[in-house]
Amino acid sequence: MPHLEIDGKPVEVPAGTNLIEAAKRLNIEIPHYCYHPGLAVVGSCRMCQVEVELNGRKSIVVGCNTAAADGMKVFNSTEAIHRIRSGVLEFYLQHHPLDCPICDDAGECDLQNYYLLHGLHDSRVELAEKRHKHKVHDVGPTVVLDSERCVLCSRCVRFCREIAGVDELGIFEHGGDSELLNVPDKLLENDYAGNVVDLCPVGALTDKDFRFKRRVWYLKRTPSVCTGCSRGCSIYMDWETSRSYKNPQRRIQRLKPRYNRDVNEWWICDRGRYSYHAVDAGNRLTAPRTKSEGESATTVDAVLDRAASKIKAALSKHGPKSVAVIASAASSNEDLFLLKRLFADELKVHSLDVTLSGEPKGKEDEILMKADLTANRRGAVEIAVQPWGGGGVAGDDILAGALDGDYEVLIVVQHDLTRILSQKERNRLGQNCEYILYLGTHENGMCHLADDVIPIAMWAEREATGTNFQGRVQRTWRPFEPRGEVLCEWRVWQELGKRLGHALPAESVADVFDSIGAAIASFKGLTWEGIPPTGIMLTGVSEPPYRKVQSSRPLPAY
Ligand code: SF4
Ligand code: SF4
Ligand code: FES
Repeated sequence: MPHLEIDGKPVEVPAGTNLIEAAKRLNIEIPHYCYHPGLAVVGSCRMCQVEVELNGRKSIVVGCNTAAADGMKVFNSTEAIHRIRSGVLEFYLQHHPLDCPICDDAGECDLQNYYLLHGLHDSRVELAEKRHKHKVHDVGPTVVLDSERCVLCSRCVRFCREIAGVDELGIFEHGGDSELLNVPDKLLENDYAGNVVDLCPVGALTDKDFRFKRRVWYLKRTPSVCTGCSRGCSIYMDWETSRSYKNPQRRIQRLKPRYNRDVNEWWICDRGRYSYHAVDAGNRLTAPRTKSEGESATTVDAVLDRAASKIKAALSKHGPKSVAVIASAASSNEDLFLLKRLFADELKVHSLDVTLSGEPKGKEDEILMKADLTANRRGAVEIAVQPWGGGGVAGDDILAGALDGDYEVLIVVQHDLTRILSQKERNRLGQNCEYILYLGTHENGMCHLADDVIPIAMWAEREATGTNFQGRVQRTWRPFEPRGEVLCEWRVWQELGKRLGHALPAESVADVFDSIGAAIASFKGLTWEGIPPTGIMLTGVSEPPYRKVQSSRPLPAY
C-alpha cells in the first residue's frame, strides 16, 4: 500500500490507484474530462495534470494515468499547475459556443465549473471566428448531439464499446475538424444509451426526454431503487413539483444511476431510466372504483368495508378454501409480509401466490437487465407468499379454480388478468366469482372486471424495501405523497385486518420491516435503520463475488 502526500496531506492507497482516485480519498479534486473510473484510461484531455516529486525528481504528469507510488509528493494547486489548467481550458473554450443560457448541462457542466475554478481568462477568439460543427444532431432515438460543445473526451465512445459492447459512436477526422459522430450507418440505440448523457462532462450529449424540461438547479434529488426488473439498480430520482406552469403532472424529471458497486456500478439500462413516466401517466388510478354503486363515487373506506364483509361471509359459509389471493412480486417486502400475516397466518387461506405463468417477461442480458420485470420476487419467496401447507394452491391453479367457481372471493394485486384471459374466460370469471377486489396502480382491464378497485402507491410515492434476485435488501425513500386517495398496499392489508378482527399493529413502514426482521429467518437481525443506502444481503446469503458490469464481448478502447 503506497503512502504518499497530496498537497501536503498524507494518504495511503491500494497499489495501482491512480492520482485522481488517491486525491478523492482526501476530498481533493483533480479536474478531469476523459477519465472515468468505470472506463479504460486514455489520458487524452490533459486536464488532470499535476506536479509530482519522487526520488528528488520533479515532473508534470497526468493524474489519471499515473499510479500512486510510495514516498510520492503530489502538488495539485501550484502556480504552474494553475497556468497549465488555465491553458488547457482556454484551448477547449476557444471554439466553444456561447450556449450556456440554453444548454441543458448548465449547472452541472465541467467546462463551466472548471472555468470558474481554474480559468477566468478572457477569450482571444472573436465570436465570428468560432468554428462551427453539427448542432441538434440526432444520434439515436433518445439522445441529441451538439458537436460544437463536445470536448472530444471519448467517454461516450468508450462506454458504447467497453460496457455496452457496441460500435455506435466514434471520433472522426483530425485536428480542429475532429468530431464525435455516429459510426456510419449506426444509430446510438443500445439498451444502455442514456448512460452517455450522464458520462458526457459537457452539454454535448443531451437526453431528448429531459431536454429543455427543467433547469437542473431547481431539481431535488432523492435516492431510490429501480423497480424495472429483479436487478434493483440503485438510482437517484431528480424531481421538482413547485413550478406548476411547467407541466404540473410531471413530478419526476429524470432518473440517474446511483453508484452501487455490488449491483449496477455507475450504469442503468434505458428500460429503467425512462420507467418513471408510469408514475405520473395519465392512466394512473387515484381514486377507488366500484361496480356496486354504478358510476357513482365511492371511498376507500367503503370499499374496505365491503371487501371485509364479503371475506367474512365467504369464510363463515365455506371456510378459507373459498378465498384466494393472487398477489404481486412487484409489491414491497412490507406489503407481502402483512398480506401473508393476514391471509395465511390469520385467515388460513391456502390459495395465495404471486406467480402466474402468463406474466409479461422482459429482455435479459449479461450486463444488467433481467427478464423478470418484478422487483421483489425473491422477497416474496423469502416471506413465503407462495402456495403453503398441504392444501397450497399455485397462481395458475388459483386462476383456473376461480374460472371454475372454486372461490367466492378473489383478490388480485397488480396482475392484469384480462391480458391473460379471453373475453369468454373474463365473462366466466365475473359470473363464477362472487366478489373480485383489485389493487392496482393504473387503469386497465381489471378496473372493469373487478367489483371493487383500490388504487395503490408506486415505488416513487412510498418508503419500502425490496429484495433483488441476489438476495440484497434495498430501501426506497419517499420524496412526495401519493396523489388523490392512493394508499400504500401494506396499509390496505392493515385496514382490512382491522375490519376482519385481526389487528396487524404497525405505525410505519419501519415498524413493519422490523417485524419482518424478527419473524422471518432470512431477515433475522435486519432493521430499517440498519439498511445502508446500497442495501444489505439477507441473513445467511453471501455477497456475490464482484463482477464488472459490462458486456461479455467488450470492444477495446481506440
Ligand atoms: S460527446 Fe461528450 S462524452 Fe462524447 S466525446 Fe464529446 S464531450 Fe466526451
Ligand atoms: S437493469 Fe432492471 S433494475 Fe436496473 S435499471 Fe434496468 S430495469 Fe432498472
Ligand atoms: S483525465 Fe487525465 S488526461 Fe483526461
